[in-house]
Amino acid sequence: MSEQPLIYLDNAATSFPKPDSVYTAMDAYHRNSGVPVGRGAYRKSIELQSSIDQCRKLAAKLLGAARPEEIAFTFNGTDSLNTIIHGVLKPGDHVITSDVEHNSVLRTLQTLKDRWGLETTIVPADQSGLVEPQAFQNAIRKNTRLIILNHASNVTGTIQPVNDVGDIARNAGALFLVDAAQSAGHLPLNVAETPIDFLACPGHKGLLGPLGTGLVYIRSDLVDQVQSLRQGGTGTRSEEETQPVSMPEKFESGNHNAPGLIGLRAALEYVLEQGVAQFRQHEQQLTAQLLEGLQQLPGFLLPGPGAAEDRVGVVSLVSQFAEPQVLASILDENFGIQIRAGLHCAPRIHACIGSKEAGGTLRFSPGPFTTVQQIETAVAAMQELAQSFAG
Ligand code: ALA
Repeated sequence: MSEQPLIYLDNAATSFPKPDSVYTAMDAYHRNSGVPVGRGAYRKSIELQSSIDQCRKLAAKLLGAARPEEIAFTFNGTDSLNTIIHGVLKPGDHVITSDVEHNSVLRTLQTLKDRWGLETTIVPADQSGLVEPQAFQNAIRKNTRLIILNHASNVTGTIQPVNDVGDIARNAGALFLVDAAQSAGHLPLNVAETPIDFLACPGHKGLLGPLGTGLVYIRSDLVDQVQSLRQGGTGTRSEEETQPVSMPEKFESGNHNAPGLIGLRAALEYVLEQGVAQFRQHEQQLTAQLLEGLQQLPGFLLPGPGAAEDRVGVVSLVSQFAEPQVLASILDENFGIQIRAGLHCAPRIHACIGSKEAGGTLRFSPGPFTTVQQIETAVAAMQELAQSFAG
């Protein structure tokens, strides 16, 4: 077993570590409060409610939403995507999406296809994992109701032309859902100034909150077009038998993840204080360092854009030597480097970037707390590993 300190490079799965203020806030909630959100008239409950309201305001600010009520809390990015996909689509509808999507989109669409015959078109990506807006334009049908696009790939980091695709959706009278799982907190976002109708993201990746938190942005004039995924208690209008129709209660039935949202609030304060631009700059520096260090590795291919500015901080390698999981275990056990290997729940992109036969990729994803030194160590470990196989 490795004696080295562990180096966490799996921030695309969930960010770690979190800002200290997240741990402090969650610990304080658990020890000193522990009450539910929006269910009591006692002081601790009112205090908690105002913290959760503040969390919503901060999320709206970060995403550029016009109103805090346009944000509903969910439990992760998948939950947010399911909220829109199940909520918007009806029999007779057609959806356009792409090869770069995660299973949280692909499997959800397939389920509706199997259940009641949803029509889908999946547009291709090129070798670098980039989609072509014209392909979405060409796929438009009279009954195209929704276009869904991953803002940045969790396999190659490729940043997609979301604004161009959003314009195509708008001109065609279709709705546009952006999966911001890898871009929220990594890239500047402004939903009010871009043609984005819905945006789904986890709270626990680039937003630096705890697992079990997520957000969905629903433009205020579209709330009526989205049916609620879950129904139940909201702590409001309890005398009514029907689900509230106003935001955010319509999409927030059941007890909130209070400790998670308290942590997310602290995380959002931190992200806004530091600024996404600063995170982006740091991430680009580390991504460039990874690209440079890993590109000439014997026996490995490095798919995706060649320039760091065309990616978020996700760099994948394709091995000609061994299964990615085997290499990831060696990196962990011999070098203390923690990365994810395989298909990354995004199966279709591997046929585009040449990693399907290899069983997927070996993925490095730094975060805001990753250091230049840690990347140097990871690159040196990969060089040693490649030489041991090649030699
Ligand atoms: N979708 C996340 C990842 O890429 C979990 O690892």
